[in-house]
Amino acid sequence: MIIAIDGPAASGKGTLAKRLAAHYGYHHLDTGVIYRAVAYALINAGKDLRDEVAAAAAARNLDPRTFDNPAFKSHEVGSAASIVSAIPQVRAALIEFQRQFAAKPPGAVLDGRDIGTVICPDAEVKIFVVADPKIRAHRRTLEALARGEAAEETVILADILARDERDQNRAVAPLKPAKDAYLLDNSHLDIEGGVRAAIDIVEAVRAGRR
Ligand code: DC
Repeated sequence: MIIAIDGPAASGKGTLAKRLAAHYGYHHLDTGVIYRAVAYALINAGKDLRDEVAAAAAARNLDPRTFDNPAFKSHEVGSAASIVSAIPQVRAALIEFQRQFAAKPPGAVLDGRDIGTVICPDAEVKIFVVADPKIRAHRRTLEALARGEAAEETVILADILARDERDQNRAVAPLKPAKDAYLLDNSHLDIEGGVRAAIDIVEAVRAGRR
């Protein structure tokens, strides 16, 4: 089974996807990491984030062994990832890797922006996670502070809104719910509540109730 979890930055979809994968014993891929890895490679090489040739080359040379690099988690790399991810050649270079991952038995949970719409349009379960931007900014601020980074909530909110705008309005694979996705509003749910709601959706689909 393939479970697609999409949604905007800091919606809580990452934790939810990880927990769902653990619950079902499925593989988990945080697809944001691959765009972050591309952005990080460009930053490190001193290249412009809009350099399409360099970005596409970085996407083709992706090394999954680097995916747990803690530097990828920073806010700066996340914003840079949003910029490089709008380059069509970057997205094209990353499709096959994601589809192969999704096909791993016994199942996979992929979280991102376009999993249900572009990468795995036939996923059995699609969940689109949303949450109030102010609440997302608050959560991101707490996470950044916990990592020891300086974080200003109003700045993070502005960045989240800019990122939503960019991710939703890019020409290729924009952030939007698939027609057959279930909406999960995570604004007022804690982690356990979000996980429970997602499991309920998966179970309902499995039982043919949805
Ligand atoms: O989920 P994240 O914050 O790690 O994602 C960083 C950026 O990567 C996000 O702003 C847009 C891009 N992204 C994407 O375009 N498609 C995905 N499937 C995942 C992330």
